[in-house]
Amino acid sequence: MKPHDEIDSYRCVRADAREPEGYRAVLGEAKASFLHTDPPYCLLTRRRKGGDLRDPRANKKIDRNPIVRFETVRDYRAFTEAWMTRAVAHLTPDATLAIWTNLLGKEPILAVARSLGYGHLRGEYVWGKRTTDKNANEQLLRVYEVALVLSRTPEPPLDPAGLPTVWAVVGGYDDDAEAARWGNHPHHKPFSVLEPLVRTWSRPGDRVLDPFAGSGSMPAAALRLGRQPACLEVEPEWAERVTRRLRETASELARGAGSRPEINTPADKVSATGNHR
Ligand SMILES: C[S@@+](CC[C@H](N)C(=O)[O-])C[C@H]1O[C@@H](n2cnc3c(N)ncnc32)[C@H](O)[C@@H]1O
Repeated sequence: MKPHDEIDSYRCVRADAREPEGYRAVLGEAKASFLHTDPPYCLLTRRRKGGDLRDPRANKKIDRNPIVRFETVRDYRAFTEAWMTRAVAHLTPDATLAIWTNLLGKEPILAVARSLGYGHLRGEYVWGKRTTDKNANEQLLRVYEVALVLSRTPEPPLDPAGLPTVWAVVGGYDDDAEAARWGNHPHHKPFSVLEPLVRTWSRPGDRVLDPFAGSGSMPAAALRLGRQPACLEVEPEWAERVTRRLRETASELARGAGSRPEINTPADKVSATGNHR
């Protein structure tokens, strides 16, 4: 196995998160101290009465469809068991897991994590996603994705001098225009949504593992916050795009251009494009 200092941490490896090779390629013999990932959501196959698929949308764009569907919640649990067992073998014993999921995926993820020793749910981080609702006097927030934060150990006693832990955030799908720049992945997350999780549950210099990189929001956030990303993605087009994204992010940081992106205001976005997801 390669020592970690020979590994290119700006490369997203094309690999299946259920198999061992990808983890070896991105980590070598090193361990990550934070698993921050966004696996396929627990979406079930939709069928008509006759049994044929109701929603055969796929392969429309240059990218193959990154959305995976499962026949049953039990299948989703088996998928979760397969990838999570591999991933936790590459973590330090005190690592924290922050796993994004839709609401149906919560129970299978918690059950598998518990069976692997991550029995302490430290909390549920909620993203209130701004909708495009055009009522001028109110803004609706939609909760579709949450991140479950899990550890092997219970929460330490409350430190009266400590900083608060952030458990909720509000943001639009593409507040920082990074989704548009990197392929509009349907499950892109803006930096402002990821930043509190990365800052709270890892330290600068830590290795952060994401076996389901998609368009790379999580590894890019880790890099911008001085962590070392280690990521996999099964679709070759997306894996290549993440590698380009990490390389460009690294050169922007080297030029001192990696500052916080300007947030587009909801009003601008709704009137300009109306394309919040
Ligand atoms: C929820 S998305 C991740 C989105 C990502 N956080 C972003 O910001 O763009 C899940 C990703 O996992 C990928 N994927 C699905 N099955 C996989 C597998 N077995 N191994 C690795 N990646 C997989 C999909 O192609 C998809 O891009």
